[in-house]
Amino acid sequence: MSVPRQILVTSALPYANGAIHLGHLVEYIQTDIWVRFQKMRGHECWYVCADDTHGTPVMLRADKEGITPEELIARVYSEHTRDFAGFHVAFDNYHSTHSEETRFFANDIYAKLKAAGLIEVRAIEQFFDPVRGMFLPDRYIKGECPKCGAADQYGDSCEACGAAYAPTDLKNPVSAVSGAVPVRKSSDHYFFKLSDPRCQAFLRRATRAVCKTQPEAVNKLQEWLGEEGENRLTDWDISRDAPYFGFEIPDAPGKYFYVWLDAPIGYFGSLRHLAARRPEIDVSAFTRPDGGTELYHFVGKDILYFHALFWPAELAHAGYRIPTAVFAHGFLTVDGQKMSKSRGTFITAESYLKQGLNPEWLRYYYAAKLNASMEDIDLNLDDFIARVNSDLVGKYVNIASRCAGFIHKRSGSALAAVSGDLLAEVQVAGETIAAHYEAREYGKAMREVMALADRANQFVNDHAPWELAKQEGKDAELHRVCSEALNLFRLLTIYLKPVLPKLAADVEAFLRLAPLSWADAAALLPGGHAIGEYKHLTTRVERKQIDALLEANKESLAPAPAPQPHSQQRHAEHQQHAEEKTAVSHISIDDFSKVDLRVARIANAEHVEGAEKLIKLTLDLGTETRTVFAGIKSAYDPATLAGRLTVMVANLAPRKMKFGLSEGMVLAASGEGPGIFLLSPDSGAQPGMKVK
Ligand code: MSP
Ligand code: ZN
Repeated sequence: MSVPRQILVTSALPYANGAIHLGHLVEYIQTDIWVRFQKMRGHECWYVCADDTHGTPVMLRADKEGITPEELIARVYSEHTRDFAGFHVAFDNYHSTHSEETRFFANDIYAKLKAAGLIEVRAIEQFFDPVRGMFLPDRYIKGECPKCGAADQYGDSCEACGAAYAPTDLKNPVSAVSGAVPVRKSSDHYFFKLSDPRCQAFLRRATRAVCKTQPEAVNKLQEWLGEEGENRLTDWDISRDAPYFGFEIPDAPGKYFYVWLDAPIGYFGSLRHLAARRPEIDVSAFTRPDGGTELYHFVGKDILYFHALFWPAELAHAGYRIPTAVFAHGFLTVDGQKMSKSRGTFITAESYLKQGLNPEWLRYYYAAKLNASMEDIDLNLDDFIARVNSDLVGKYVNIASRCAGFIHKRSGSALAAVSGDLLAEVQVAGETIAAHYEAREYGKAMREVMALADRANQFVNDHAPWELAKQEGKDAELHRVCSEALNLFRLLTIYLKPVLPKLAADVEAFLRLAPLSWADAAALLPGGHAIGEYKHLTTRVERKQIDALLEANKESLAPAPAPQPHSQQRHAEHQQHAEEKTAVSHISIDDFSKVDLRVARIANAEHVEGAEKLIKLTLDLGTETRTVFAGIKSAYDPATLAGRLTVMVANLAPRKMKFGLSEGMVLAASGEGPGIFLLSPDSGAQPGMKVK
């Protein structure tokens, strides 16, 4: 084989504020297949990823849960790594952007951009939430669309008419964080000067190369950059004011790097973290322009803008290498529609595994559907069942299950030496299949493999070993036919191994083989090779398993976890990080009466071991008692609380917290300054009384 390539591969860093779902898995499975393929080809390939931890949503969510951002991201880290492992996504390293390695590169890149004269400080006016004491990202401001007047629209674009605008254009704006009317406030922001002629020239020259394998992506870039001489890209705001969960900018106290600045830098952070335990990795060979290595980013089409424009521009002007290519994929739909919580098609990775579905079924199905384009891919559930059962069970595994027994029973588990046209043909096909993998045309690769499996099954049918087994004097032929079939099966296993690593490992155990690499297809198993016992390799998917999965994912009446960003329409032009959707608008009296507010007596109040902000309250509602964890520790001493009356939300869905189940919420007021003030009814009110 030629000189091994040195390849660094990344998948986008998932946000640390939500669960991994089947949509995400399109990308991680697509990347994992490619990486496994490269490794099987003998290349040195490193697959790194991390959680994308910074930004407003993580900060606010942690706050809501009464934990620190660090605690939140630690929990999500363990959930994400568990889910990825469950789907055999084998990162060489999975790190966090909230790490010293990422901080190192963020500071370095920032310092170099600054030295190059590409950082500028400008005061800008933005909406500020006077109650919460923070500047509001666009997604946290709601109001009426300045174009069409639709109510309840976000600060960046209108879902009714599609208009894009600045949050300050909204009519009657409201903060989604506190409900307060935001005020305009000016503050210094740090900008990366993308409008600088050097950046413009670079982007025109270089970014097309980064997207060269995808004409649709090149068209997008053209659209974003505009015609020669047209300066469409404006400077990029890379700072956010405190309070913000992120890295403080070294020479700017109180200013933080915007999450999208350090997120892609997290790729290098993860590599550096990996290199600490893998001395053979020369990190600088992957980060400097002339290191002789390759760098590929797999991303969804929604974040192409960041990876094909901002990121290369940052890198190039900080003296770093740029990506060899960015590979963008489309979005997952389920049965032709956007994933939906009410239909149960917003399926989490965790629930899929918990229902006992085989992760390799999904890996195979995605592989069969994937190509190198940015088209969306559809998980059609009936087709999923049919395809997995017919291809994996009916075609591929069938070859082994029909022949293995005869080798054991009639030939002492040893194979005969074989050769022939079909074997040679399947060996040669390996190079075509490899080319499909390399080009991310997995669908073509799977069709090719299944066509060969059809041929192998035809061969078995033609020679009918079960008939030979009944005939006198046909032992040698039976031995030869079954040995040839198992050799064909072994070759197909090599070609499917990037997609089905677990199944391939089971086959390796059954055939008593060292881990298969691509080059192993050049040789057949020698005569006399002893195989192990055949155990069933995979089962069929049943419709009832899929129905149970949908049922398990149907949105319950309990409030949903923080919704994921609208990745599908996430408009890169708005440069906005995904934000949590918290509706603030007028409600009807019916809406209000859905909230069951009750007078409660604090029967007991105590500190919670290990919780920074919480007090554990036992609330007496007259007919029952409830436990509530309230984030009021900064303002109250538990000793002073017992006995007093307050108001609680009695029909809030119970929430499992780190410290126990919280069965409601007490009402308290807070403002811009410090202080939290519990509500109390006037004297005479009794526990259990309804507040309306
Ligand atoms: N944190 C950013 C990426 C930063 S990379 C430096 C982000 N996170 S994400 O969790 O929203 O998405 C992670 C990846 O999953 C993205 O590439 C995104 O396109 C992809 N997908 C998320 N939902 C998806 C589907 N429904 N279908 C296919 N891919 C999807 O973006
Ligand atoms: Zn509108």
